[in-house]
Amino acid sequence: MAEETNVSNETNYSEPNDNASFLAAVERSKKVEADILVNPKKYRVLTGDRPTGRLHIGHYFGSLQNRVRLQNLGVPTMILIADYQVLTDHDAFDKIAENTRQLAIDYLAAGIVPGDDVMIFPHSYIPEANQLMLPFLTLVSNSELSRNPTVKDEIQKSELSVINAGMYTYPVHQACDILFCKGNVVPVGKDQLPHLEITANIARRFNKKFCKKGEPIFPIPTALLSKTPMIQGLDGSKKMSKSLGNTVMLSATADETAKLIKKAKTDTERLITYDPENRPEVANLLRIISLCTNEEPSAIAERLGEGGGGALKNALTEALNETLRPLREKRAQLEKEPEYIRQVLLSGAEKARAIAEQTLKEVRRAMNMEI
Ligand code: TRP
Repeated sequence: MAEETNVSNETNYSEPNDNASFLAAVERSKKVEADILVNPKKYRVLTGDRPTGRLHIGHYFGSLQNRVRLQNLGVPTMILIADYQVLTDHDAFDKIAENTRQLAIDYLAAGIVPGDDVMIFPHSYIPEANQLMLPFLTLVSNSELSRNPTVKDEIQKSELSVINAGMYTYPVHQACDILFCKGNVVPVGKDQLPHLEITANIARRFNKKFCKKGEPIFPIPTALLSKTPMIQGLDGSKKMSKSLGNTVMLSATADETAKLIKKAKTDTERLITYDPENRPEVANLLRIISLCTNEEPSAIAERLGEGGGGALKNALTEALNETLRPLREKRAQLEKEPEYIRQVLLSGAEKARAIAEQTLKEVRRAMNMEI
């Protein structure tokens, strides 16, 4: 999921120019965020995740909650499972279907309600969207693709023995994901901004080159940047991820959650204070409680007083288990209904495909390919 790489990519935006474009992206995001409240139907949210496994609390607070909020505001919402894109940085493919199913379960348990304009689907099931890849590839240059900072970062971190061409071209495929349904709002983490920029360029270039003046086919999408501060791993490391064993999965039981939190890193001071600068681990745990209870982290610290790490961990365990209880109950129920999950994905794909067919028709016509 996008926000996992947020922190590690921070340096990518430290150049003065990049920083200016980041600030511009923040401004656009704020504007759209305000307008969504007034005109939810003017927008279509398209967002997606690679199917790498089940989701954890970082995903929940960082993005799932926000998607559910947008859906509940009445914004048409498409959630795409990037089962082709996952091949670019993961060698294994044996679990793609299972991971896709688990993602769908997490979305549904978190409160996504598929319906007329809310869909969950794997992008491999939308051939007409994938077909946009070919014209789109002619609208970008090799050098644009090879200087994408997020791609460079992923290549560096990947354990692939050979860097496949999909690594360089997947941002164009992501443009297909976003543009086939004319998505104009894309809730993502900061690391995805370079991809959004490519999508915006492709949309602009396509409209300019192939469309009649004043009759553009594609919208220029806006990245909706998350307002939730990044939560860090329970071990104090910057990144929260399953592979580092420093998170709590949404599917964990209450007991497993308690055990994981017992091992969380704190410090030796008895008095709990909210001091992100000097006590980052304690501050991180306080922030997670705050996400559950909506209290200020400093107020939680005050309440815990001289309780030390033990009281802090107990409070976190209780808050998290309480917050996740309904989601977990629903999740356990959905696990028992594989046929229902399959139907959710198939009917999401069917609806998304109808949209893609329509867009491809318009694209063919614009490109003078209709026979
Ligand atoms: N690249 C995204 C990630 O790694 C996943 C993704 C695929 C996506 N297609 C998308 C995100 C379209 C937003 C919109 O997390």
